[in-house]
Amino acid sequence: MQTGICIEHLTLRYGRKAALCDVSLTVPPGLYGLLGRNGAGKTTLMRTVATLLPCREGRVTVNGVPTAQAARVRAMVGYLPQDFAAYPSLTVREALGYLGTLSGLERPLLRRRVPAVLRLLHLEEQADKRVGALSGGMLRRLGMAQAILHDPPVLIVDEPTAGLDPEERVRLRALLARLAAGGRVVLFSTHIAPDIEAVCGGLAVLDAGRVRYAGTVADLKARTGAGDLERAYLACVQGGKD
Ligand SMILES: Nc1ncnc2c1ncn2[C@@H]1O[C@H](COP(=O)(O)OP(=O)(O)OP(=O)(O)O)[C@@H](O)[C@H]1O
Ligand SMILES: [Mg+2]
Repeated sequence: MQTGICIEHLTLRYGRKAALCDVSLTVPPGLYGLLGRNGAGKTTLMRTVATLLPCREGRVTVNGVPTAQAARVRAMVGYLPQDFAAYPSLTVREALGYLGTLSGLERPLLRRRVPAVLRLLHLEEQADKRVGALSGGMLRRLGMAQAILHDPPVLIVDEPTAGLDPEERVRLRALLARLAAGGRVVLFSTHIAPDIEAVCGGLAVLDAGRVRYAGTVADLKARTGAGDLERAYLACVQGGKD
């Protein structure tokens, strides 16, 4: 089986405006960063890979399966939306159980997976708290928990570290790195360059709907002569081309 996400000549328009223009990108197994400023097209790209937006121009495959076969792709993908929200009146544990049931997990498996993801996301103390009473960072971690609940081979996480305190950010980055080390494909968007520098080998820089750079963190730094990824990224987007 061909593993990874393969995007070929993807153009995606909202009405007449193209949010992605002729994007081609290969995301291999491992932790792969997607870096770009507000409006660059990161969420649009992730939603297309997660089959939530239709791919009308170009081709996107996930582990060899075209996104047109949405049910097959969804079974393989765990997705954390940028605007994750859940049922405010359920407890964290109930919400995970409910979301797991919706994605077709059988009860015995759910009984094992819910405590496991609560532990991984450091949410055990919040398990019986109502979702509506969670802080922003806790809700983000619940979003991560639901994304990995069915142990998917492909994870697409849209700004997973947004709103997390420094301790939880480091913990989450380590979790993503661990999940990727197990052979999964983990696509991780952010506009915080140090988050990617700390854990990702590969990254793509997206700007105004186009890929400005795709390769390794080390190569981007070497090409731009910058000492850290933040400066390398700025040199890349401000220079227009890589
Ligand atoms: N539903 C929509 N309808 C119309 N235009 C949209 C819609 N969603 C996004 N856009 C536009 O598409 C472009 C890309 O947006 P997108 O949300 O993909 O960017 P992003 O890189 O995720 O930004 P951010 O860092 O702010 O999350 C922007 O110009 C945005 O205004
Ligand atoms: Mg976004």
